[in-house]
Amino acid sequence: MLTHFPTERTVVLTGAASARGIGRVTADRLAAAGWSIAILDIDADAAADAAADIATRRGVRALGVGADVSDEASVDAAISRVEAELPPIVGLANLAGISSPTEFMSETVEAWDRVFAINMRGTFIVSQRVLRGMIERRLGRIVSVSSISAQRGGGTYSKVAYSASKAGIIGFTRALAREMGEHGITVNAVAPGPIDTDIMGGTLSDERKSEMSADILVGRVGTPSDVAALITFLLSEDAGFITAATYDINGGLQVS
Ligand SMILES: NC(=O)c1ccc[n+]([C@@H]2O[C@H](COP(=O)([O-])OP(=O)(O)OC[C@H]3O[C@@H](n4cnc5c(N)ncnc54)[C@H](O)[C@@H]3O)[C@@H](O)[C@H]2O)c1
Repeated sequence: MLTHFPTERTVVLTGAASARGIGRVTADRLAAAGWSIAILDIDADAAADAAADIATRRGVRALGVGADVSDEASVDAAISRVEAELPPIVGLANLAGISSPTEFMSETVEAWDRVFAINMRGTFIVSQRVLRGMIERRLGRIVSVSSISAQRGGGTYSKVAYSASKAGIIGFTRALAREMGEHGITVNAVAPGPIDTDIMGGTLSDERKSEMSADILVGRVGTPSDVAALITFLLSEDAGFITAATYDINGGLQVS
């Protein structure tokens, strides 16, 4: 088993291409911490642009690949490219996700399946593919993004399908952590409260942000950087004794 992180190591981030998203900032922060960066996103052009920008500004190796996390063949091809072109994969951040504001009685099976295909099945497909190499090397860190919506049953924007898919991430994390501990791999989740990105039906207006802040103990919505800092720590060498955990990061909106 590797007891120390190799100097040359790669982190794969799914859903890290959107300009104002959590993943993009997380990729940048991980690059600053010395990781080589692989961005997998359904938006291939934005993934390539994000990787090129990070490589230039941070002086690290970075690759942006178009991939649909819900599609096994697409993920296999993307990870094969990452394995061929970048240092060994030590970290995985599962961030790709879609929201779903549909009220339950208007929900369709097709829309339900799409939310689960991306938010939950995608996390399964990417994790399993990346774990092959991690198990072989006996070293790995996985962090997946759940949501406060799983704990509170929504309440900010998304409704039942999203909450259920994000609750699935917590069970996934705990069960996978049980199987992976013996391989030197940690598996954790983060559960953010409202974060100032475009996922809740577009860019949040100042008015909407102040409404959302009313019940948040620290008096504001979160920033992508807030979440990026936590994910970066959970992927770090220092976090080796943390596994099967779900970290609340919500400014005190949910006290559990
Ligand atoms: N913003 C919030 O308030 C909040 C709160 C809790 C959890 N989250 C979660 O954080 C994660 C990141 O969200 P964000 O707020 O940065 O939103 P975002 O919309 O900016 O980012 C989501 C990214 O996922 C990508 N994506 C969508 N479908 C994909 C697919 N099939 N395959 C690959 N990539 C795909 C998008 O292109 C985009 O880059 C999501 O899982 C989201 O559910 C967000």
